[in-house]
Amino acid sequence: MASLTVRQIDEALKQQLRLRAAHHGRSVEDEIRNILRDAASDTETPPAPAPGRHANEPAPVRRVLLIIGGGIAAYKSLDLIRRLKERGIAVRCILTKAAEEFITPLSAGAITGERVFSDLFDPTHEFDVGHIRLAREADLIVVAPATADLMAKMANGLANDLATAVLLAAKAKIVLAPAMNPAMWSHKATQRNLAQLAADGVTFIGPNSGEMAESGERGLGRMAEPLEIAAGVERIFKAAGAPQPLQGKRVLITAGPTHEPIDPVRYIANRSSGKQGYAIAQAAAAAGADVTLISGPVNLPKPDGVKVVSVETARDMLEAVERALPADVAIFAAAVADWRVANVGAQKIKKKAGSATPELSLTENPDILSTIAHRPSGRPSLVIGFAAETENVEANAKAKLARKGCDWILANDVSPDTGIMGGDNNTITLVTISGAEPWPPQSKEDAATMLIARISAALKGDKS
Ligand code: C5P
Repeated sequence: MASLTVRQIDEALKQQLRLRAAHHGRSVEDEIRNILRDAASDTETPPAPAPGRHANEPAPVRRVLLIIGGGIAAYKSLDLIRRLKERGIAVRCILTKAAEEFITPLSAGAITGERVFSDLFDPTHEFDVGHIRLAREADLIVVAPATADLMAKMANGLANDLATAVLLAAKAKIVLAPAMNPAMWSHKATQRNLAQLAADGVTFIGPNSGEMAESGERGLGRMAEPLEIAAGVERIFKAAGAPQPLQGKRVLITAGPTHEPIDPVRYIANRSSGKQGYAIAQAAAAAGADVTLISGPVNLPKPDGVKVVSVETARDMLEAVERALPADVAIFAAAVADWRVANVGAQKIKKKAGSATPELSLTENPDILSTIAHRPSGRPSLVIGFAAETENVEANAKAKLARKGCDWILANDVSPDTGIMGGDNNTITLVTISGAEPWPPQSKEDAATMLIARISAALKGDKS
């Protein structure tokens, strides 16, 4: 094979290639080979850039290779990918042939943002990312669902497909999340394999007890929930001393709407779901920060490792924020009501035939972001606000940065056609005193990971 020499490419392109190669865990040469191979083959999809990855963002340091086995629980593994990614973990997937009966490589690839692997003897990929490299390029290998068949093959050192060949070649720690019928789980053969694998140093998360996919069946054998597996993965990384960029930092986050009472049963609210703030809290905790999340009423699970303070009104939120200080970083993602009702009824306002429609008189709520950003003492060193705008997004965000006295504004267009309010995706422009930086459209989890990477860099020196 002829050698490959690339000359006369400018520094910016070289830098892009280096970042892209680092992100895929390849050498720059391999990355170029890969680009050429993809360009030459019109049957292949080009390697998708990981969603949410920004050109100058460092490559993620924690890489999980997720092997999805063939069981009904495979659909939960798609959620597991999201849960790992929201913790800033890069995920690559192998699907066994049986897994492809339950989910498609396309769906796994869309969520990982990476090519999905399934064949041991793939003539195009074996030269590029063979089973040995797949095994070596992972910091941790997770098998979920781990079927009785996969466990049996592993316990006996079989390697007759890509998943088992990778598992046999792996030097990284292996975590199994078993999922099978209770009779299969309790069978002597499975229990023998379990004991063998545990003796070989494999870690297990689950199985849990509960309802099976087969109607009327209950017992031990349900795959652990994605959040449980993600938390277990996090613990393993922490124990292994993986880098924690926000270790020792206190991060305070507001999220969700506020409810401003009209009377004991009615209130004024807004459409904020809290998803972006919760994703930021999760990403900050995953980066090792001590996180306090001050949340308005939302319908979201509590992020792992985060202290949540639940509040209703803007005034409660300000009080909770002040109580949670000092903090190194404060991120105000809540959609705080600008006004509250001045004349809150002590009793439910009754509709009476013939009487006048009641009038609500409004009074201004405290501006929490501005109050904290203007604190003469005890101001967090990085104060970040959001600007939800429906027009002139960037210009309004710049004016808001100055008015509110904060360091950064994450501006987003929330006009109804964007679907951002309450949706799963976000398109942000980061506005600082040095200018505006548009971020790509991405999931709220990816936006959170990107923000945490920027905050970690800023705390090391550069605020802009
Ligand atoms: O003024 P506006 O509501 O557009 O500002 C948005 C930013 O200010 C968000 O970061 C929001 O959390 C914060 N804010 C606040 N208290 C208010 C109003 C807004 O903290 N009363």
